[in-house]
Amino acid sequence: GTEELSFSEAIMAAGDAFHRFPLIKIQGVPLMCHIVHNWDSIQAFRPDPSDLLIATYPKAGTTWTQEIVDLLLNNGDAEVARRAPTALRIPFLEIHSPPPIPSGLSLLKKMDPPRVIKTHLPFKLVPEGFWKNKCKAIYVARNAKDNLVSYYHFDRMNLTQPEPGPWDGYIHKFMNGELAWGSWYDHVKGYWEEREKRNILYIFYEDMKENPQREVERIMRYLDLSLADDVISRIVELTSFKTMKENPMANYSFIPKPVFDQSISPFMRKGVVGDWTNHFSPAQAQLFDEDYERKMKDADIPFRTDI
Ligand code: A3P
Repeated sequence: GTEELSFSEAIMAAGDAFHRFPLIKIQGVPLMCHIVHNWDSIQAFRPDPSDLLIATYPKAGTTWTQEIVDLLLNNGDAEVARRAPTALRIPFLEIHSPPPIPSGLSLLKKMDPPRVIKTHLPFKLVPEGFWKNKCKAIYVARNAKDNLVSYYHFDRMNLTQPEPGPWDGYIHKFMNGELAWGSWYDHVKGYWEEREKRNILYIFYEDMKENPQREVERIMRYLDLSLADDVISRIVELTSFKTMKENPMANYSFIPKPVFDQSISPFMRKGVVGDWTNHFSPAQAQLFDEDYERKMKDADIPFRTDI
């Protein structure tokens, strides 16, 4: 629609303004400078109790979950789900870019509740209104090494994020919580610790890969929906990696090249579990795992260990 056209045009108009934004820390969490400059308005956001939050560390399976949720809420209607690109159907709460690009908040302002809202903010930085209003929230976690690999390739192609630099250094930035949106370890733990108190549905990318139907049904029950089996099967099919990669409303092809250069690495890159084995040397994996043990030993999050 026109919304989508104006979005892409706005990015083109911004031209060079879009390049490798520096990060600034808020409560120890590095965030893109434009987010930090608009921090007060983000924190002041008042969700409706009917709004649903989808929270993730970047590259954990956000877009996949967004597509599943949108289809569940629209009874598996592919046409409805293709009404606009993901980022316009399900606004990204904190995203702020140089004008004239619309912010997440400005997109949300134009939508009536119930809305689905995406965030990468760690639990401690999510606006209080979500929990005061007892909003539902889905958190998706992905195993650390695959999450890191996916983020590395994303940072190569997403020209708004800091340059990833060499691979070995990137591993250390991830371990030190220096990437945009901060520490993966704090992120997965922060939501895990709050999941019962806040009624957060906590799911895993690896479980979605292993048995997408089971996980789609889990999300459906959480949303108090009950869809026919054939609708569920259709949703599983429509949200397969292959289908989403070819779906222009899900594959981020609407974001033009000065922002997402998909010739460097496609947004829908591989969509598999275990790609870390193609990236980490044995020494890098050992160093990473030892550090992981130290950081995660007190957390009882059931990440799979067979990956
Ligand atoms: P890879 O880079 O490992 O391929 P996010 O949406 O949070 O940015 O996450 C993007 C990651 O999820 C990418 O991982 C992408 O390929 C993967 N992904 C997107 N849609 C998927 C799907 N339907 N099934 C499996 N993986 C998917």
